Amino acid sequence: MRVYRVKDYDEMSKKAATILAAQIVSGPEKALGLATGSTPAGAYRYLCKWYQEGILDFSEIRTMNLDEYRGISREDSQSYYHFMKENLFGHVNIKEENTFIPDGEREDADAVCREYEALIQSTGGVGLQLLGLGRNGHIGFNEPSDSFIKECHCVSLALSTIEANKRFFENAEDVPRQAYTMGIGTIMSAEKILLLASGEEKADALSRMIGGPITPRVPASILQLHRDVTVIADEAALSKI
Ligand code: GLP
Repeated sequence: MRVYRVKDYDEMSKKAATILAAQIVSGPEKALGLATGSTPAGAYRYLCKWYQEGILDFSEIRTMNLDEYRGISREDSQSYYHFMKENLFGHVNIKEENTFIPDGEREDADAVCREYEALIQSTGGVGLQLLGLGRNGHIGFNEPSDSFIKECHCVSLALSTIEANKRFFENAEDVPRQAYTMGIGTIMSAEKILLLASGEEKADALSRMIGGPITPRVPASILQLHRDVTVIADEAALSKI
């Protein structure tokens, strides 16, 4: 695991964007695994800027998103589908048919997750997977639990996650209680992983991810076993290491 210590959110975002850009430039063979949340938004802004400056071309790129709330329509401004459109897809020349996100509108959880997992594996897997970090150590929506769940699955969100994510909703009651997410095995099968963390509220999770025991109680700790992980974290996020 390589850990880059940067000054602040902007430096993290720029460095992350250069790594994502290098992956985009290197070719479309493998999908780019994308994440949502406030953490990657800054990196996406750099990618949009570099596209507008003619530096990047997304026309052949395929993307697979990590997760989506269950029971939310694509048009809902809180859906991850909407987030991706607002923060990246709507500003670059990516083809909509090349962007994949679990379908939160479909209620049949088994079918959604089985089909999403099959899609990822049958199209050659993910080349570079971008990850944020939940305050409780979650990645995607893999919440702390008694075991690592390997494949895409439907998850009931932890109370602390609902609490953390309510800032994006009008009322805490509006935060969906369930989500579809890539599993730990799905994430671990990516060739490369890029995890970003910014701010003091991530310091505890980050120190447990990097230096603590590998345990499903801290889902991100499994990344200690991945052969190619890059972490970019700012000083505040690294303050407990
Ligand atoms: C959400 C997402 C994660 C994200 C995390 C942190 O619940 N499912 O993919 O990494 O929370 O979000 P943020 O970057 O806004 O702190």
